[in-house]
Amino acid sequence: MTTTRQRDRWATRVGLIMAMAGNAIGLGNFLRFPVQATQNGGGAFMIPYVIALLLLALPLLLVEWGMGRFGGARHHGTTPAVFQILWNHPLAKYLGVLGIFLPLTICIYYVYIESWTLAFSFFSASGLYFGVQSQAGMADFLAGFQGIKDTSYFGGFGHGIGLAYLFFLLTAVINLAVMYRGISRGIEKMAKIAMPLLFIFAVILVIRVFTLGAPDPAHPENSVWAGLGFIWNPNLSLLRESRVWLAATGQVFFTLSIGFGAVQCYASYLHESDDITLSGVTTAATNEFAEVILGGSIAIPVAFAFFGGAATIAFAKGGAFNLGFQAMPLIFERIPLGAVFGMLWFLLLFFAGITSSVALAQPAITFLHDELNLTHQRAVVVVWLVVILCAQPVIFGLKGGFLDELDFWAGTAGLPLFGALEVILFVWVFGRKNQDKEWAWKEIHKGAELKIPRVFYYIMRYITPLYLVALMVAWIWQAGPEVLWMKGAPAEVVTWKWAARGMMLALIGVLVLLTSIAARRNKPWPRV
Ligand code: PHE
Repeated sequence: MTTTRQRDRWATRVGLIMAMAGNAIGLGNFLRFPVQATQNGGGAFMIPYVIALLLLALPLLLVEWGMGRFGGARHHGTTPAVFQILWNHPLAKYLGVLGIFLPLTICIYYVYIESWTLAFSFFSASGLYFGVQSQAGMADFLAGFQGIKDTSYFGGFGHGIGLAYLFFLLTAVINLAVMYRGISRGIEKMAKIAMPLLFIFAVILVIRVFTLGAPDPAHPENSVWAGLGFIWNPNLSLLRESRVWLAATGQVFFTLSIGFGAVQCYASYLHESDDITLSGVTTAATNEFAEVILGGSIAIPVAFAFFGGAATIAFAKGGAFNLGFQAMPLIFERIPLGAVFGMLWFLLLFFAGITSSVALAQPAITFLHDELNLTHQRAVVVVWLVVILCAQPVIFGLKGGFLDELDFWAGTAGLPLFGALEVILFVWVFGRKNQDKEWAWKEIHKGAELKIPRVFYYIMRYITPLYLVALMVAWIWQAGPEVLWMKGAPAEVVTWKWAARGMMLALIGVLVLLTSIAARRNKPWPRV
């Protein structure tokens, strides 16, 4: 039975906020945000971004914190059980499986990208890529490292996949060591070291970038200020394009870790009397500072200064990792102490990454522990073996788009669905069951140190779910059939992508099976 065991808890308020901010602040802030903003018109992107932040992210954030604390008080840290409590229907627990599946799937590819950042911090410190002069050269360097292309940069080996694999294992071991120690002694302690360092590194880099001005006297128009202008001056005509809205909404979700199940799980380690409104808003604000101010003030302005606007935009359009792994190294080669700044940049990414990857794995771990009674340590080992195993096709099928396929389904398409489900269950269904329309609002405000303006009650109730459903419909309408049948993709890509879908279905299958076992075993499961 699940009720008597002592639940691990966040030890301190500061630790909780660091861990939650670490959960949110990730590769999304420093790699994904600049690329998404650049691809979608800079300033124009920021308008739907702020709208989604207020109408979707903030209400959902409160729902996720509230739902997590509510579940944790009943010894259920993951959504299969919590959905079942909220909606007493056989289907509810299986819908809740999404709250484990989505973060676990992201974790599988996220750890691999995280390992590149660790590798590149070594490459910066040791100067391995120094001497690579052009963008094409740097693209080759990255592709060589990933084993996609044979190049001359990695000694006699032709490519660096062996090296990439080694850094992957190293990253996996570091993650394991943190998670093994648990919530307060592992994740919280690590966040309290990594987050301050991350902010210090980011501020050093921003100062360095701002003092660059216009580095090429022959091209005074290429400056840091031109880059900042690009992010902050909206081209309003772009707002007519729905892709800009979709991209901005997706980014807000991804960066705040909302619509996945990861925030609920962290919040389940709160005490029932703990505040969630002030803590939740504080972590969101911290994330937005790290994203818009710090994330927006490094890669884009520096690339504008060195390459000019058109080239920066072309860079970003070429791929998700181009700004971070190709443009930035080229710049480090050209500034004094570039090896040090390069190392700081990639270490910053690594800290951002690891405080998120442990959050991505946590729902699966908590599920095995809370619902199937595995010890914490055993749950960690099982989940981590699954992640390492499933990461193999990510590593070796990179060129075939295996990673992109996981990212599309778990990192993009799943979120509005899961977000809509959680808000409908928490705000509508459970409120009805309790015959109190305001139940969710009151639950969120238990122990609250910050009163959320009343208008958010209505936003949460009406606008958030409708907006999410509309978003889903738009998505299916626009991209649905084409994405589903992978029109025009080369045969090799189609094979890898189907393999990715097969793996995701298998993961869902296993989780559904385990959920049904857990529900049967812990009868009556779960009661409030
Ligand atoms: N928010 C993280 C980032 O910006 C990614 C993440 C998503 C982490 C979902 C946990 C859960 O990189």
